[in-house]
Amino acid sequence: MALPDLRGERLALRPVTDRDVPSIATILSEPEVARWWGRYDRARVRREALEDPAVEALVVEIDGEPGGVLYVNEERDADFRHVALDIALAARFQGRGYGREALRLVIDHLIAAHGHHRFTIDPEVGNEAAIRCYEAVGFRPVGVMRRYTRGLDGGWADGLLMDLLADELL
Ligand SMILES: CC(C)(COP(=O)(O)OP(=O)(O)OC[C@H]1O[C@@H](n2cnc3c(N)ncnc32)[C@H](O)[C@@H]1OP(=O)(O)O)[C@@H](O)C(=O)NCCC(=O)NCCS
Repeated sequence: MALPDLRGERLALRPVTDRDVPSIATILSEPEVARWWGRYDRARVRREALEDPAVEALVVEIDGEPGGVLYVNEERDADFRHVALDIALAARFQGRGYGREALRLVIDHLIAAHGHHRFTIDPEVGNEAAIRCYEAVGFRPVGVMRRYTRGLDGGWADGLLMDLLADELL
């Protein structure tokens, strides 16, 4: 699934290229992001954003510069068709509604152009800003995945699985 450039009111989404790797690694290394996304360096960004065939990685462009990254992971098994999403914004762009705009923009496109009917996202249970943002887009809690993700301290943290059906997009 190749995604085109998508333009919203205040931001744009476009595929990550090799040139974006340093700025994405810088964003993901900010403490406000690393707390939830884990440790990143350029090699990990390159591996996930450019070399993983399952992931379409998009730059969230705000004010003409890379302001974050959005991963689109399409389940290819037709019987379990859905898209898993993940997003991170640089600290200076957090809490200003960009997260919900980016998610609405990509979900809207995936429904309209690819006929997708279901989306998932899985913040840590303690990531209140992320959960509020996702609820504002229409995601609903499914349940808690216990000891789902490893935190920066090496300990396991619970994750909240959330999903959204196409006709629930807000
Ligand atoms: C999660 C993230 C993508 C959300 O995007 P965003 O643009 O910051 O989100 P929005 O501004 O659309 O919404 C954030 C909401 O959380 C609220 N919020 C912010 N900080 C909060 C906190 N500490 N506790 C509770 N709510 C908080 C905001 O007030 C807002 O809600 P409101 O509009 O109802 O008032 C972004 O904050 C981010 O990149 N965070 C760091 C990385 C991360 O956690 N990624 C998600 C991993 S699943």
